Amino acid sequence: MIIEPRMRGFICLTSHPKGCEKNVLNQIDYVKSKGKIAGAKKVLVIGASTGFGLASRITSAFGSDAATIGVFFEKAPAEGKTASPGYYNSLAFEAAAKDAGLYAKSINGDAFSNEVKAQTIDLIKADLGQVDLVIYSLASPVRQHPVTGVLHRSVLKPIGDTFSDKTVDFHTGNVSEVTITPCNDEDIANTVAVMGGEDWQMWMDALLSAGVLAEGAMTVAYSYIGPKVTEPVYRKGTIGMAKDHLESTAFKITEDLAKIGGKAFVSVNKALVTQASSAIPVIPLYISLLYKIMKAKGTHEGCIEQIQRLFSARLYTNGSIPVDEKGRIRIDDWEMDEAVQKEVAELWKGATTENLPSIGDLNGYKSDFLNLFGFGFDGVDYAAEANEMVEIPGLI
Ligand code: NAD
Ligand code: NA
Repeated sequence: MIIEPRMRGFICLTSHPKGCEKNVLNQIDYVKSKGKIAGAKKVLVIGASTGFGLASRITSAFGSDAATIGVFFEKAPAEGKTASPGYYNSLAFEAAAKDAGLYAKSINGDAFSNEVKAQTIDLIKADLGQVDLVIYSLASPVRQHPVTGVLHRSVLKPIGDTFSDKTVDFHTGNVSEVTITPCNDEDIANTVAVMGGEDWQMWMDALLSAGVLAEGAMTVAYSYIGPKVTEPVYRKGTIGMAKDHLESTAFKITEDLAKIGGKAFVSVNKALVTQASSAIPVIPLYISLLYKIMKAKGTHEGCIEQIQRLFSARLYTNGSIPVDEKGRIRIDDWEMDEAVQKEVAELWKGATTENLPSIGDLNGYKSDFLNLFGFGFDGVDYAAEANEMVEIPGLI
């Protein structure tokens, strides 16, 4: 069928298989253009189908010739209905990996469940024996707890005070005031249950006790800090509590991994347009100002540039891994650059519907958003019939 973007709120209901393929191939080309990284050879990526996780899988495979196992939760195609973009991304990734002679297999299911953890362990045992890197890159609004069965829902709310500030509807470009009422205690606990470190710890416990972590294995999860303007809804809000928990979990996992000489890290990444971040109020306005400034300075990066730099300039150099005073890897350094942040803060104050197209990179935001779903790529004929029914061979 001919596939066009169909927007509803913060999501796009359709995705384009050829466009998703193009997105993956562009990322592969970028990684190859940067040369080899002396990285891990057997890599498990949890949350491997979009955003930072997909970029981690691509960087491992095409930067270090790694065998990869990807875990994700994506919708397969159905007659007349496209798959979710992560499904087509993973199909394209696996095809490219196989063409390059690289092992790649994927598991599509709920990573929070005991069952998917057990399936992953079985697959590692059968095919790879052990893994030497585990990337944890889940972003989800819900988690069913594997022990209690409780369905936790995360919320994006401030803690304590009502928050009011500017936001933009990036589809229309309309800048308006948004007011978000504070969370209750249950909201904090639920958000920490979904996006905190408990599941990461459960994964690492399961992998360690199954003996599928190689000597010196490393695990990395992703976090975010960001600017003052987003603090009330992000870092000091409910999601920030979850990120605090994730960051402290790294130390606990490192203690557990001591017996195999392993280590756990959190990497603080840059703000980027992904399915997860588009749904957070205030963030799209911040991102559109940030993009404009960073593009002008020549320091703008997407997921693949971020992760390629994380692997080549932080994780796998000859030296030790540099961390901040809280033990975190910082690859958000160019975003948090003082001059950049000062400029964002100034532009923020004066941002209106009328001036945003010139002071911010609203078009960049929109085109990145469309790209997430495989739309807007050069070299893809969107007027042509596309086969939405393509399937990932051997998907578990
Ligand atoms: P994303 O939405 O692009 O990717 C989420 C991944 O998790 C997908 O592969 C999805 O299939 C998978 N997933 C979700 N629920 C799942 C489940 N139940 N079982 C299995 N897989 C599941 O998100 P992203 O923006 O790449 O976020 C990844 C991490 O990076 C998050 O921890 C996020 O907070 C962090 N981060 C994001 C940004 C940003 O600006 N986007 C910045 C810094 C850090
Ligand atoms: Na991801």
